[in-house]
Formats: sequence, C-alpha cells, structure tokens
Amino acid sequence: MSKRRTAILISGRGSNMVSLIAAAKEPDFPAQIALVLSNRPDAPGLATAKAEGVPTAAVDHKIYAGREAFEGSLQKMLEAHRIDFICLAGFMRMLTPSFVERWQGRLINIHPALLPAYKGLHTHERALADGVKLHGCTVHYVVAEMDAGPIIAQAAVTVHDHDTPATLGARVLAQEHVIYPLALRLAAGGRLKIDGNRVLGGDGPEQTLVAPGV
Ligand code: GRF
Repeated sequence: MSKRRTAILISGRGSNMVSLIAAAKEPDFPAQIALVLSNRPDAPGLATAKAEGVPTAAVDHKIYAGREAFEGSLQKMLEAHRIDFICLAGFMRMLTPSFVERWQGRLINIHPALLPAYKGLHTHERALADGVKLHGCTVHYVVAEMDAGPIIAQAAVTVHDHDTPATLGARVLAQEHVIYPLALRLAAGGRLKIDGNRVLGGDGPEQTLVAPGV
C-alpha cells in the first residue's frame, strides 16, 4: 500500500511533530511526513523539521484579511505538496467548518486532556484545580466544534500529590509522544471506521494506554 502523504501543522516547538517524524521512519509505517507547515514563520519546530530533512512551509495568518483567505493559502500549499492526510500538533488556529469538512476523516488532532473533559486551554491547571486523579491526552478526528470529534486513542496518567501544572504536563506530554504515532498508524493505515462519535476497528492495547504511576 502506498504511504499517505501527511502534513503536520504546528505553531510552536513541535515535540509531537518530532515523535511523528521518528515513527514515520519505520519501513511499515503507513504515513510519510511530506510537509511540516506552520502559521508562524518563527515557530521553532520548523527548524527542527528542516534539520530532519522534512520539507517545510509557513503560511503566516497575520498577513491575511480573514480566516477564509488564510485557509485558501493553506489549502494551496497542501495541494502543492500532494497532501492527503493532516495531523494538527500544537496548531493554534481555529479551522473553519468548510476546511474541516473538506478534510473530514483525514484530519486529526492531539489534545492534552482526557476528552471530553477539559476542552480548550490550560488543561493541566484546570485538572489540578478540580482534584482529578486521572488526567491524560487524546488523539481525535477533527470536527467543526473545537476539541470534539471521534476519539482514536487516549492515554491516562495518575495525578501525584505534589504535581504542578508543569510536572503533570510533562508526564502527559511524554504520553502524547507515545499515542500520537500509534493513532496516526491506525488512521493512515485505513483500519478505522467512524461510526457517529465512535471510532471502531482499532480495538486493542494500542488504542488505550493507561500508564499507572506515571
Ligand atoms: C501539546 O500539548 C498538544 O497536546 C497541544 O499543544 C501542545 C503542542 O506541543 N495541542 P508540541 O508543539 O507538540 O511540543
């Protein structure tokens, strides 16, 4: 089977991007990272991707009059690189429903919480404030509503007494780096079926990861 030409969209440091690039080097991986694209020309992750030999591009949202114009350029760039699958990895722009619709089933995101809990920002602070004992991360298909969409994979970590947002966030991030490649392998490999809000066909340990004591 030919590999899916995949773009990773970033806005910042790109540590999840690094884990996806590393995984995609495995010969049997169903996706090839064909482009790393940022809406911020100064995103540190762009230099990291270049050093890895991955093609990079920037589409600076600030120079466009509106979301549609920005996404028009994004779409052109994706087409120029013959992209057919997208991973959002710390991409800090909301996408319009028409862009999401166009990429439906081929657009996935990672979120640093166990969705549907803690959508939005500052997830680790909010989880600590609520006193939850389990926290984690989620890879999901993107739908028009923010941080919603069928869930592909989740990993949970336990919350420790002395956790700060930074220490908890670091343990969650380590799990993000594990589940994002697993989820991309499943989704790009064509093994998953979306049934309403549920993702079927990825049964097994690769879909849910509980890391007790982590
Ligand atoms: C991650 O925590 C991810 O879950 C969230 O944004 C952060 C991006 O980090 N969507 P990085 O750029 O991958 O290091």
